[in-house]
Amino acid sequence: VQTEQPLRLNRFDYNKFYMRKNAARRISYSRTNRKGGRIMFKRKSDPGWAAVLAAFGLLLGAAAPWFALVLSIPPPAVQADAQVLTEEDGPSPSPQVQSGDGQPKLIALTFDDGPRRSTTTALLDGLAERGVKATFFLIGKQLETNEDVVRRMDEEGHQVGIHTFDHVRLTGLNKADFDAQVDRTRQLLKNILGHNDFLLRPPYGLMDDGIRRHAGCPIILWSIDPEDWKDQNTVRVTEHVVNGARDGAIILMHDIFPESVDAAFQIVDRLHQQGYLFVTVEQLFAARCLPLEAGRTYSDAYP
Ligand code: NI
Repeated sequence: VQTEQPLRLNRFDYNKFYMRKNAARRISYSRTNRKGGRIMFKRKSDPGWAAVLAAFGLLLGAAAPWFALVLSIPPPAVQADAQVLTEEDGPSPSPQVQSGDGQPKLIALTFDDGPRRSTTTALLDGLAERGVKATFFLIGKQLETNEDVVRRMDEEGHQVGIHTFDHVRLTGLNKADFDAQVDRTRQLLKNILGHNDFLLRPPYGLMDDGIRRHAGCPIILWSIDPEDWKDQNTVRVTEHVVNGARDGAIILMHDIFPESVDAAFQIVDRLHQQGYLFVTVEQLFAARCLPLEAGRTYSDAYP
């Protein structure tokens, strides 16, 4: 930009002198050299651009801490859901998240049939952005190639459960066949996560006395089923769940479909607006002082 600067300097030694002398005082230079014509104009425009750029840089520099600050502040959703975790010793939840009897409205998102790396990872990303905890009932045979995904669930505060090794019906199985599905998956999860407190969700929600006898842990069903696997329609699934939402509900979805992941985000965002807090199954029942017992079946924690 400055290559034209010396073009006619010989005709304007006065200007040349002042350009050097007043390099740091552009304003006085331009004021005292109005007859400098073209050269003066170009000299004037160059520092002008430089000044604009410098000022912009300074503004950016000054604004950067603000951007950082704004980005570091969690959105209201995060604060709202975080309250449940600190409920015992923290401040009481704000009025809009409370149901009629003064308790916060709680709801549990549960996802079956994963992990599936692509969709489950996308789901975990979006849940983390929203500060939401969910419960995942996992297929044993999908664990070996997704151990990091399972570990991430656990580290980010989600709850992990068993959904059999091969996604088979558990009804009518003898103890050995039951263990080959449930206990085998339990051992795999224990090896990955280092703890051994996993809930069970039998595939298709099929239940019998044998399952209750062999389970060795609480059995979790659901109260809201949008059948997201049927048409994988984000809008329909979202409407079904939002319209059926109520305090203490357990929502059944499948994190193996991109459409279900999208629906889950819309469900979270809309129910957050209605004052719901998303919690794990364990947190849901603990908040209602309902103990979960091995071999018993739970479908909701309605007040
Ligand atoms: Ni399933």
